[in-house]
Amino acid sequence: HKRQEGLNVNDFLWGGATASYQCEGGWQEGGRVESMWDVYLHENHLENGDVASDHYHRFREDIRMMKEGGQNSYRFSLAWPRIIKNREGEVNQEGVDFYNRLIDACLEYGITPMVTIFHWDLPQYLEEKGGWLNRDTCVAYTHYAKVCFERFGDRVKLWATFNEPRYYTNSGYLIGNYPPGHQDIQETVTASYYMMLASAMAVEAFRTGGYDGQIGIVHSFSPVYTTDTSVESAIARRFADNFYNNWILDTAAIGEIPGDLLGELKKTCDLSMMTPEDLAVIRRNRVDYLGLNYYARVMVKPYESGETTLIVNNQGKKAKGTSQTIIKGWFEQVRPESSRYTEWDTEIFPEGLYEGIQQVWNKYHLPIYITENGIGLYEDTSVNQVEDDDRIEFMDMHIAAVLKAKEGGCDVRGYYAWSPFDLYSWKNGTEKRYGLVAIDYENGLERRPKKSYYWYKDVIETDGKHITGK
Ligand code: BG6
Repeated sequence: HKRQEGLNVNDFLWGGATASYQCEGGWQEGGRVESMWDVYLHENHLENGDVASDHYHRFREDIRMMKEGGQNSYRFSLAWPRIIKNREGEVNQEGVDFYNRLIDACLEYGITPMVTIFHWDLPQYLEEKGGWLNRDTCVAYTHYAKVCFERFGDRVKLWATFNEPRYYTNSGYLIGNYPPGHQDIQETVTASYYMMLASAMAVEAFRTGGYDGQIGIVHSFSPVYTTDTSVESAIARRFADNFYNNWILDTAAIGEIPGDLLGELKKTCDLSMMTPEDLAVIRRNRVDYLGLNYYARVMVKPYESGETTLIVNNQGKKAKGTSQTIIKGWFEQVRPESSRYTEWDTEIFPEGLYEGIQQVWNKYHLPIYITENGIGLYEDTSVNQVEDDDRIEFMDMHIAAVLKAKEGGCDVRGYYAWSPFDLYSWKNGTEKRYGLVAIDYENGLERRPKKSYYWYKDVIETDGKHITGK
């Protein structure tokens, strides 16, 4: 295999991030078995990722464009259903070969791969046995992670065990808008716990295997704000911070699930799956770095009334303004009137990234990568070049926040745009576009760089000199 040359490991990583299911397509090729997403989307007749961006066939072209766009790193995920064939854990060599080609292409172009082991596409054969509600999945995951370290660890030095366990378990087990589509607090707690246990088990395998590099976790980071400085608001903030962030970050970085969170959960949930032996595994296997995906902050106020309500806007402008979060007894989300929002109800608040990085750095003192940041927009991609000034403005403000935190002494080591090219945005479909490169889904999936692609290239080449922060 080719080795990477000419890249100083101390370089700040500027890249783009994707996830296997969202971009690869080729769902029945190369011996890939079904994932829980294939089954869920097919059965419910929803827009799916069968073809997606066809990255499975066009990854060379995509990576070449990253290189030509000045990027020096690519964050992508491995599809478990391509690599492990069945519950017995047999390796699919064709899947391994595919990722070998992809990783080699990165190295050929001087692009540092940052590899996520699990970004939501659980093999259906495991989902059928309870998926993340079953501890056996932690064992299967650890086997899969070891196969990845063994096969790719000679060239991959930056690993993430999971992408956004909080978002995954919330969506799949609490809100119910993502597979397996349940709405159950106990299941949410169980699945979240098992994912964090699996993450620690993979970290342990990485360390005992003596692999070279760093292993971290990627979190959907929502720094919590309150409307005032009352004691009641401070309590609501703690509840929300446990709900959104601490459950993942404390567990991964300190090796401890917050005690006050466990105390609250114990009132209504069965926590007997948290055995002393497994809690010890969590405690002794902390991550090397934290990956933060930042889209927006969350502002909360004390809980007043109503049932637990979680409404996510997966319909864009058709449902603008309908999002809502109430966690009964804990907190209610507030949507500041004066803020700007995307068509999918995401607040635009770059200050939250600056303050959030500081909070995370001060609390954990671990290296930080901004593993995702971007804006979903409706775009007409039939034109020669999409003039995505809104994306440029968004990225400018957020990169300014990252650089300011870095200059202020926080150890931030990279920034990844979500996403280097258009891809399938889960339940939001392909009409919610995030890419720096447009994909013309109607015309043979042709790739055409947007204005932001050239803008990002200039940012990287000038080390952010032209960033305005406005
Ligand atoms: C993150 C995920 O939650 O945000 C990605 O890691 C996802 O997989 C991205 O696509 C943007 O969210 P959405 O819902 O707009 O696709």
